[in-house]
Amino acid sequence: MMLNRPRRNRQNEVIRSMVRETYLSPEHFIAPLFVVDGKNQNIPIKSMPGHSRLSIDEMIKEAKELYSLGVKCVALFPAVDDKLKTPEAREAYNRDGLNFRAIRAIKESVPGMLVMGDIALDPYSSEGHDGLVDPKTGEILNDPTLEVLAKQALCEAEAGVDIIGPSDMMDGRVAYLRMALDDSSFQNTMIMSYTAKYASAYYGPFREALDSAPKKGDKKTYQMDPSNSTEALREAELDTAEGADILMVKPGLPYLDIVYRLKEMSTLPIAAYNVSGEYAMVKAAAQNGWIDNDKVILETLTCFRRAGADIILTYFAKEAAKLLHR
Ligand code: PBG
Repeated sequence: MMLNRPRRNRQNEVIRSMVRETYLSPEHFIAPLFVVDGKNQNIPIKSMPGHSRLSIDEMIKEAKELYSLGVKCVALFPAVDDKLKTPEAREAYNRDGLNFRAIRAIKESVPGMLVMGDIALDPYSSEGHDGLVDPKTGEILNDPTLEVLAKQALCEAEAGVDIIGPSDMMDGRVAYLRMALDDSSFQNTMIMSYTAKYASAYYGPFREALDSAPKKGDKKTYQMDPSNSTEALREAELDTAEGADILMVKPGLPYLDIVYRLKEMSTLPIAAYNVSGEYAMVKAAAQNGWIDNDKVILETLTCFRRAGADIILTYFAKEAAKLLHR
């Protein structure tokens, strides 16, 4: 005789699904998309099999498919022509720029789709940094960067973006952007702050996609040290006080402890970004036949939810939505 047999609750699928604690569904996903200028462009990203830089016409097709699969939010990342990149990142607030044309196009063509716009200067900066760089010292200048980010945020809001995602990690940016938006009557534009964004090597494929790697140095003076977790709580307190609507942790898988800690301490919804390097690792192993692509994707995303992520930004969004519809 044995009193406790946990296996009794696992003996068939009916009881397993009755006691299941976590659900995964396409409405939790945000699909990142890479946009490029031109027409009929679909330029594969080598380190991200299955993903391409898409021209706006192609991106619309992709967004429609995502929407029909139940993925109702996209995050846009423009791959900007090198010729348009300057030290001041002026293209970041050019109203006719690719980013804003892409936002407008989705809002017009896919009604109901939420659009998230990135706030940071790296895709537009000849230096490849998220903030302005002091030409003499190489320092990433915090307060002057805030002014540029606010211009970028206003252009995105005017183009119709639903959510801005400051991914720059400058101090005080959430409050600065909230005030700038409110001053221009964009009270309803949401802020999903990259609250705990780490200086991670997992961003490699993304930087290939946008050709946005720093020209000099690294991002360690603004992105967080992977060794720290209490500091993430501090960032969360600040972003909350500054008016963030949703807190995000990035990268995802190696940082699920941070997702869990933020979920425990915060009353705000928590998002996690399952980043490009995490996608690339799964794809590489699956292509070698070393792991089962479909099962690993669903397990991975379920674990994000179990750890406490309400929302998951993931390059698997479309594939996972299809698998869930089966
Ligand atoms: C830049 C930005 C990065 C990512 C999103 N926004 C890269 C970086 O900080 O260098 C990475 C996303 C990914 O790897 O999927 N502001």
